[in-house]
Amino acid sequence: MYKTISIVGSQWGDEGKGKITDLLSQESDVVVRYQGGNNAGHTIEFDGKKFALHLMPSGVFNKNTKVVIANGVVVNPKVLLSEIKMLREAGYTLDNFYISDRANVILPYHEELDVLIENMKGDDKVGTTKKGIGPCYSDKINRTGIRMAEFVRDDLFLKKLKYNCAEKNIQFTSASMDTFNAEEIFEEYKDYAKLLKPYLTDTSYMIDQEIKKGSAVVFEGAQGVMLDIEHGTYPYVTSSSPSSSSIPINCGISANYITNSLGIMKAYTSRVGAGPFPTELKNATGDLIREVGREYGTTTKRPRSVGWLDLVQMKHSVRVSGFTQLSIMLLDVLSNVGDIKIGVSYNFNGEIIDYIPAIESDYSLVTVNYITMPGWTEDITKCSSFEELPVNAKNYINKIEEILELPISVVSVGPDRTQTMVRKNLW
Ligand code: GDP
Ligand code: IMO
Ligand code: MG
Repeated sequence: MYKTISIVGSQWGDEGKGKITDLLSQESDVVVRYQGGNNAGHTIEFDGKKFALHLMPSGVFNKNTKVVIANGVVVNPKVLLSEIKMLREAGYTLDNFYISDRANVILPYHEELDVLIENMKGDDKVGTTKKGIGPCYSDKINRTGIRMAEFVRDDLFLKKLKYNCAEKNIQFTSASMDTFNAEEIFEEYKDYAKLLKPYLTDTSYMIDQEIKKGSAVVFEGAQGVMLDIEHGTYPYVTSSSPSSSSIPINCGISANYITNSLGIMKAYTSRVGAGPFPTELKNATGDLIREVGREYGTTTKRPRSVGWLDLVQMKHSVRVSGFTQLSIMLLDVLSNVGDIKIGVSYNFNGEIIDYIPAIESDYSLVTVNYITMPGWTEDITKCSSFEELPVNAKNYINKIEEILELPISVVSVGPDRTQTMVRKNLW
């Protein structure tokens, strides 16, 4: 009835959400980023060009598409302005860009607190991107955050800054760190606020109107379900909910609009940052996948841990996020790895289980039961239809569909927009 689709990371992030959002934006009216902040790094490649976006929705390369940062996103004004500048220089005028007046603002003390808290955790550190994401969402939940609408009102911004600096300085002082001065931040950031003010609007109202009039709307998630604050591998998670089920809250729209969700899944698994990873490959196969797949963080450049596809983890994501179809990414990377394994159940406390234990130290104890599928050696990066794939690649995809009981509607065989097979109407 409504023409909407959500693009959601189904693993631990970096599945290729940017690529698929960009692809779908070619046929959409609106693309909405609904959570996370500049911890995200979404890569888009087309016409020999490559972009890495952190905040701007990946639909920005279709000049006719409206791009929206919704209330659930945390916005670093400096990063956003530098992204706007980069895009303008590349020829994108951003005439169709909107920011929610209710999105929370990341300020310098958030980044510093992120570093302080990580250092205090020592060996238990989360391995955050140090972009101030957790501290900004903490302020939001603690009701001390500064929202975009207040940020652009000098009087309110300064008043709230004063409170926040006083509150945070207690921690910085006791850690013998430099403290923050509200007036100094204000002097710098009030200019950023002026530059961003023209983009502010009530995006809940806007998205609702668009959906009602039949516009094609894409919701672009950041991170992935396993990094979800509610349903991920807590505490080794981010501080928002990437899951599709969070979109109504994160955008201020009806849950009835969100019935079509495309889970983005790598043909294997990767993870950056700390936390359990049952199918991790710490061997030559893992090294091969990391090099061929260019598995280095888009935001922090850290090498990503890689491992086999884990269908226990995927079943968890399908359930908690509510996927209706999947897109398999980086299938080309598995050419030449030999036999391919798929994790299908875990062993835990002498039992075979098909769920994820709630305590992360329990989860790190599970061992994985695999099935093995024969691999392929052909270069598949130029295949343009499912039929052209080697039979073993087709069998791999068919097996995943069978176990997850979901259609794999998209197959991606390279980073470029054109290296994508769309097997059915996604809308
Ligand atoms: P996102 O955060 O989910 O948008 O994903 P990232 O951009 O962080 O990481 C995905 C990486 O894989 C990027 O470098 C993409 O250019 C690349 N990529 C996406 N799809 C494919 C694919 O099918 N094959 C290959 N080889 N690379 C891909
Ligand atoms: P995209 O959108 C992969 C990870 C961090 C860390 C944890 C918490 O590109 O898929 P945070 O800075 O959010 O407090 O860090 O989450 N993380 C990501 N990993 N892709 C991302 O985004 C990520 N954003 C955060 O590495 O483990
Ligand atoms: Mg990424």
